[in-house]
Amino acid sequence: MIKRVDHIAVAVPNVEEAARFYEEALGLKLGGVEVVEGMDTKVGFFQIGETRIELVEPTKEDTALDKFLASRGPGIHHICFEVEDIEAALRTLKERGVRLVDEEPRPGAHGTRVGFIHPKSTGGVLIELSQHPRGSH
Ligand code: CO
Repeated sequence: MIKRVDHIAVAVPNVEEAARFYEEALGLKLGGVEVVEGMDTKVGFFQIGETRIELVEPTKEDTALDKFLASRGPGIHHICFEVEDIEAALRTLKERGVRLVDEEPRPGAHGTRVGFIHPKSTGGVLIELSQHPRGSH
């Protein structure tokens, strides 16, 4: 069901400001900056080998991400695994009694379809599953 670690997401108050450390100190290049309307977030990615670091900024107050930042401050927010078939993955998890944030996939960044698993079922980690558009990578 799980193909690889797609990205590790870091909650930040501002993508461009947070990106400076990764660019100036680590020499990485910010790419894929996009406002994801359905998620009320703005994201930017650093490609690192097979996986990426995703900086994620809330674009709306009182969303889950905004509340996360307010209560815990910037830091690791979720881990995303790539899956072959998002519907099948969510269905399988539901059958296994796993608590889901999304029972149906929703649109993620860059044409992906994603669903989140509730941290209550994972030992405290918010896990995102993501299916890439066919033929992309
Ligand atoms: Co993500």
